[in-house]
Amino acid sequence: MNTYAKITGLGGHVPSRAVDNATLSQWVDTSDQWIQTRTGIRQRHFAGETELAGTLALPAAKQAMAQAGIEGADLDMIVFATTTPDRVYPATACLLQAELNAAPCAAFDVQAVCSGFLYALGIGEAMVAAGRAKTVLIVGAEVFSSTLDWKDRATCVLFGDGAGAAILQADSSPGVMAVRLYADGRYADNLTVNARIRNGELQGDPYTRMDGGTVFRFAVEKMVESAQDVIAKSGSAPDWLVLHQANSRIIEAVRKRLKMSAERCVNCVADYANTSAASIPLALCASSSRFSAGDNVLMAAAGGGFTWGAVMVEWG
Ligand code: UT7
Repeated sequence: MNTYAKITGLGGHVPSRAVDNATLSQWVDTSDQWIQTRTGIRQRHFAGETELAGTLALPAAKQAMAQAGIEGADLDMIVFATTTPDRVYPATACLLQAELNAAPCAAFDVQAVCSGFLYALGIGEAMVAAGRAKTVLIVGAEVFSSTLDWKDRATCVLFGDGAGAAILQADSSPGVMAVRLYADGRYADNLTVNARIRNGELQGDPYTRMDGGTVFRFAVEKMVESAQDVIAKSGSAPDWLVLHQANSRIIEAVRKRLKMSAERCVNCVADYANTSAASIPLALCASSSRFSAGDNVLMAAAGGGFTWGAVMVEWG
């Protein structure tokens, strides 16, 4: 009998400070009209000085664990997707594990930028399906604002901070039906923070740099391709589409190519902007009350690396 990984709990958290487009327009040469027309974003949340990815992840993880009815001691593994870890090391997963009283479960970070949550989900699913773990906490959390150059209007208006979490548990019924993950490092320079700490000093450029047009075309093409891969692999048509929340125009282009209706395609770009690894779990939190048991939920993401991928889940 197959062992499936089922999503049994979800949680989300954004910092309290919401910044709308009008406010951003006072900081940089942009406008509410440009941002809404080109991206669909109305506002984003920014972390305060002392808030880190782990800080944002804690309430999201606790909410997911409460929904699943589990405690820290029940966790076999924490997989934490982030581009903006609290420290160079140890992993933010370890810091979160301590807060959750979850020792000695395995805990590590995954760095796949905007595809990070699907990478974490794929790893968690594989461990459950292989019988190596029964209960896994998956997190996507970012303080992406820490990488933004407030003089670069082409990037600083696009991103926000937040965290999302899910509990995966072993079950005899689905569950995660299909996972496809990909990367092509030849495109590393198209979306990057090309910096490192060396000999006590920051070396390189500490800000997000992006070739927006290339990333836009890549995101549409690869989310469509990987979505079609998991549709073929699972043999199921999707009832819901939950895409990486970067830009409403990207979401619309993918939705139309996959021939999904707008009502079945989740879009919360307006409220959160692009929260990178947190975007898919936050979108699940915003929409899962509309899902019914047995619905097929198709998630797809693309981002820095380039990385991309898709996951099909039978809900409930
Ligand atoms: O998760 C993956 C991460 N990133 C993404 O998914 C983002 C992918 N890319 C995009 O979403 C879009 O490419 C952007 C939203 C970044 C840009 O949209 P676009 O329609 O491709 O605009 P553009 O870059 O072609 O710029 C059009 C104009 C330019 O002015 P000119 O040269 O036509 O005079 C830009 O300088 O818009 C200007 N512009 C702005 N104007 C006002 C660029 N950023 C802004 C801004 N406010 N914030």
